[in-house]
Amino acid sequence: MNWRGLIDRYRDYLPFSEDVPIISLNEGNTPLIQADRLSEIIAPGKGLKLYLKYEGLNPSGSFKDRGMTAAITQAVYEGAKTVICASTGNTAASAAAYAARAGLRCLVLVPEGKIALGKLAASLAYGAEVLSIEGSFDDGLAVVRQIVERQPIALVNSINPWRLEGQKTGAFEICDQLDGKAPDWHCLPVGNAGNITAYWMGYQQYGKGLPRLLGGQAAGAAPIVEGRLIEKPETIATAIRIGNPARWRQALEALDESGGIITAVTDQEILESWRLLAAKEGVFVEPASATGLAALRQQIAKGEIDPSGKTAVIVLTGHGLKDPGTAVEQAVQPRTIGATVEALERYLGG
Ligand code: F0G
Repeated sequence: MNWRGLIDRYRDYLPFSEDVPIISLNEGNTPLIQADRLSEIIAPGKGLKLYLKYEGLNPSGSFKDRGMTAAITQAVYEGAKTVICASTGNTAASAAAYAARAGLRCLVLVPEGKIALGKLAASLAYGAEVLSIEGSFDDGLAVVRQIVERQPIALVNSINPWRLEGQKTGAFEICDQLDGKAPDWHCLPVGNAGNITAYWMGYQQYGKGLPRLLGGQAAGAAPIVEGRLIEKPETIATAIRIGNPARWRQALEALDESGGIITAVTDQEILESWRLLAAKEGVFVEPASATGLAALRQQIAKGEIDPSGKTAVIVLTGHGLKDPGTAVEQAVQPRTIGATVEALERYLGG
């Protein structure tokens, strides 16, 4: 069957009315990639079945498209002409793409100088009005929450419940891809905490078993782990540079109900896992997306998680091309050689 997007596929599980016209870019249906080499690296000889849910393969390059097809579909249905969000970049690109598809005006507020290049490029290309704010994501979210009280504009951040409705379908897909059974562990980065909330909703609704949730926050931006607001969050993983998550309470509930764990990982741990994903499995993600793997590695190493014979899914939330700047900075730079076979042989010779 031709894939027509996740609302079409999972309509029975979503609260849309029958007559709602769907705004879709055929999002979802992302691969679940078995990662045996990585499993042997993080848990040698333990028989850990490790899977990567590669959400970077969504139309705008991140998991946000799952929630955005739902939020924009509903916004259009309710007659919205303009949508707005605050974003560390991926929500912005996704909102911009779906707004373009629907013919809506789209405003995005991003923290000045703290948005990865691929996200900025895409948001601009899709025709969004990009406003760089002199402040953090948290400041931007506070502003957009207020403007929608004053103006006829639809908010498409994950405080919009339709975003969660769309995003929960990730849990359905994982169960379907694992032959109808939820994994033992579900690992993912936590920023504004919409995704962890949505996945927990999805697993509960689908009735194929419940995983334990493992959330990773960046050490410099770990309000939920530390139990306090972080005024000036900092991390190389700019996607999750958030100090006051909107879905904080729901994330704690989901963690508690699942018998889960939330932990902080350093930028160095994030980058190590980011490198492993690309170099050992051929899966290129943006740094924030490696946080789930970093958290799992850390918890196995500390003896907090016993991986023996378990199944773990790691959600890889965004594509590596979202943040080409970090990728190049972190790499060994290319060597320049003459354009001759001799020059190449000299290189090969050492
Ligand atoms: N991974 C990536 C690549 C993200 O862009 C985000 C959030 C997360 C993880 C965390 O998800 O917020 O639901 O806990 N990005 C938002 C944005 C904040 O504006 O693009 P979360």
